[in-house]
Amino acid sequence: MSFVITTPLYYVNDKPHLGSIYTTVICDSIARYKRLSGEKVIFITGVDEHGLKIQRTASSKQVKPQTHCDEISNIFKQNWNDWDITHNKFVRTSSKEHESIVDEFYNRVKKSNDIYMGVQKGWYCVGCEEFKENPDNSPTHKCSIHQKTLEWKNEENLFFRLSKYQSQIEDLIKDPSFIQPKERRNEIINFVSKGLKDFSISRTNVSWGIPVPDTKSHTFYVWFDALLGYVSAISQDINNPSLEYSINNGWPADIHLIGKDILRFHAVYWPAMLISAGMKVPKKVFGHGFLTREGQKMGKSLGNVLDPNLLLSKYGKEAVRWYLLKDISLGNDGDFQNKRFVDIINNDLANTIGNLLNRTSSMSRKWFDNKVPNNEEFNIDNTLKLHSKKAVDNFIKHFNSYELDLAANVILNFAIKTNLYLNEKQPWILIKDEYNISLVGNIIYNVLESTRIVGLLLLPLLPDLSSKIDIQLGSIYDEKISWTDQLNWGILKHKSNLPVPNPIIEKLEYE
Ligand code: MSP
Repeated sequence: MSFVITTPLYYVNDKPHLGSIYTTVICDSIARYKRLSGEKVIFITGVDEHGLKIQRTASSKQVKPQTHCDEISNIFKQNWNDWDITHNKFVRTSSKEHESIVDEFYNRVKKSNDIYMGVQKGWYCVGCEEFKENPDNSPTHKCSIHQKTLEWKNEENLFFRLSKYQSQIEDLIKDPSFIQPKERRNEIINFVSKGLKDFSISRTNVSWGIPVPDTKSHTFYVWFDALLGYVSAISQDINNPSLEYSINNGWPADIHLIGKDILRFHAVYWPAMLISAGMKVPKKVFGHGFLTREGQKMGKSLGNVLDPNLLLSKYGKEAVRWYLLKDISLGNDGDFQNKRFVDIINNDLANTIGNLLNRTSSMSRKWFDNKVPNNEEFNIDNTLKLHSKKAVDNFIKHFNSYELDLAANVILNFAIKTNLYLNEKQPWILIKDEYNISLVGNIIYNVLESTRIVGLLLLPLLPDLSSKIDIQLGSIYDEKISWTDQLNWGILKHKSNLPVPNPIIEKLEYE
């Protein structure tokens, strides 16, 4: 059994922005956490390459759509490399393998008698690749997300009988664990309660798409095609990709992590399509919030888009990851503020965690011959051992509920408590009396051991920082031993060497 997690498949109209980095970093942390917890993980990401939006982008650049897609897909791949994303699959919807899965799926849905020819009339947003409803019959002609003029469409399309699945979708969304967070689930419940309408799954005027096998003048609607990327990703590395293979090798996904704007597609249309094709529905759809910058929506026209590569080269990925994972509660909107970013990184990572490690290691080296002190048997001071146990339990509890911000805060609070312990015990005063040497040894051991556990808990969130902490403690992390076992107290060995301390993270300056 594999744990299957997916990011959305990003449109290739442009290179990745901070929103795409955000979702991908969260998925990466969850994937790392699941692997560390002993699960086999299939982490799927990729790109959504078809449709009118991409066709027009390529045409405005006067290049073939495929050439444009190749270029942007490579940029995405390069980005995930630069950000150390540990995905197992990168799916491209313009690939032959994907096309064969779409054809097979379409045939199944057709066999279920869920496809018919009809006329599609309505206002379309090319940015969203979606028809917009105007229930009050007074279209604003603008998309509220893209602020772009809607286009009127009136054409013959193939339709999918979504309405047939009304009661099945109602039952599905009754389960509170299917759509998270709660507020998003309520939006969907409300939407479904108004009655599901069939939706069109083909286009006659979009050449950049997968041709519908039996209706060649039509191409598949980009969303019908793209959602299937999650399934074709599982089969992509074999010779003859098939639905059966994906079903036997991981499908259904455990979690689709997506932005709140594309929840309907994932929590309503997609499950209905899957039921129609005789396939299992995803176990969870999690709709995260949107990122703004200094309180404003990010957009090219506003000129305030944050270039993730600039952030990466300026601050490093650990700083950006910490900010995104710890400061934004998954599900809520989040705001990127430069001052807050600098403060958080300096306070949490440099001052609290970095300093704790640095000063304790320096004391230990000075008083105990560059080594970890002895952990005497009469070390009856269980304060940090108890804090550690609690921190580990809470971290796991929060991570399992996708409360990554709370999990990150557990680590930080544990480091704060460890600093407090050190300040209260004042080993630098105790050491002045040579009779206190074992007592000081125990105090320092407790603090070093707590720091080891802080570093270990950071592993799924900030892998590089975690490994730097480990190196500073004498490289004790053992890949052959399970991560969860190493979270137990008392693993740091006395007399192991402590290298010369080095700051694990540079302090950041305000812009
Ligand atoms: N191609 C579709 C998804 C198909 S999945 C089978 C798509 N692509 S997208 O590139 O437009 O958006 C990808 C994701 O980025 C969406 O989940 C969207 O919510 C998210 N974000 C876009 N802007 C964002 C922010 N400013 N902040 C956070 N996420 C944002 O939709």
